[in-house]
Amino acid sequence: MAGGSGPTGRGVTISGWGASLPETVVTNADLTTLFDTSDEWIVERSGIRSRHVATGPFVPGPDAHADVDGVGTTATLSIEAGRRALARAGVEPSEVGLLILCTTSPDQAVPATSAAVAASLGIGGGAMDLNAACAGFTYGMVAAHGMVTAGLDRVLLIGAETLSRLTNWTDRTNAFLFGDGAGALLFEAVGGDDGLLGWDLGVDGSLVSILYADHDGSGMVMKGKEVFRRAIRATVESATASLERAKVDPAEVALFVPHQANWRIMSAVAERLGIGEDRIASVIEHTGNTSSASIPLALVEALEAGRVHEGDVILLAGFGAGMTWASAVWRWLG
Ligand code: UT7
Repeated sequence: MAGGSGPTGRGVTISGWGASLPETVVTNADLTTLFDTSDEWIVERSGIRSRHVATGPFVPGPDAHADVDGVGTTATLSIEAGRRALARAGVEPSEVGLLILCTTSPDQAVPATSAAVAASLGIGGGAMDLNAACAGFTYGMVAAHGMVTAGLDRVLLIGAETLSRLTNWTDRTNAFLFGDGAGALLFEAVGGDDGLLGWDLGVDGSLVSILYADHDGSGMVMKGKEVFRRAIRATVESATASLERAKVDPAEVALFVPHQANWRIMSAVAERLGIGEDRIASVIEHTGNTSSASIPLALVEALEAGRVHEGDVILLAGFGAGMTWASAVWRWLG
């Protein structure tokens, strides 16, 4: 476990943001052609109605499958989201000191997918991948913030996934959960105030067996109920620790951006923290669980909808395979 709180001396702000979702949409009705399920069951148990799939056209029918030889990759989604974040900030890629790509579905075992993304964008500095599963983007926020306070002027943080390549499309116990997408934030040094008010990171590696995907192509394996139960507890404890370090009361949180795994988990965590449902940023209904991409996708959608104002306190919290968890309290500096 590790945690901390600001200020650190060098202020950091988020100056750009962008998202990318593949064109192909797979509805719950499409999934009924794959296995015995229903739209009602999936909506009731998870809040998910549809998800985007990058790995090519989804082929319904008796041989239904996602075309894993399609053109969409973790890199292409990352490039689009990253380009949008840089354009929004009015920053040239050559001015970026580091690209951190959070992903649990890299395009190759070697090299890191961030290398291809950096080359395509024209990133001026270094690049690396970060894998902390669904807690990855929040780990990445703390890392990006740390690199800026350590002296870099700009860090581009991307969360991107093509989970459709890791999904076992015949496993009705979890195939309906996952989707593809990418979101990006640009962190920049500013004089004065610092955005990061408090944070918390943790991992319990003894829980690998409750959620994993091996290299053998057999797809995601999950003990759903156990993940569900532990997810709520870990997220509440981590968010509480971050809020305490930030000296922020839950009543002061303007926007809660949880990892989008299941609406029932998101709302249960919010309730236990004392945060009303109207303050939750949610995209789960149309994205499903996009792991490292879920928090930036939800934050970017909230930003685009004008839900975030200067001075607002945002709470971000995720958990995932490992089992990992992470949370951060961020003040929006405008
Ligand atoms: O990013 C982090 C990773 N993942 C998560 O956070 C997911 C955590 N887990 C969950 O969200 C939930 O456990 C699920 C949504 C995956 C499942 O919900 P649940 O309420 O735990 O359902 P269950 O697995 O206990 O299944 C209930 C029933 C079973 O039937 P019986 O045994 O009660 O007769 C299942 O066979 O629903 C059945 N079932 C289905 N029925 C229709 C399981 N999958 C399906 C399906 N469609 N797709």
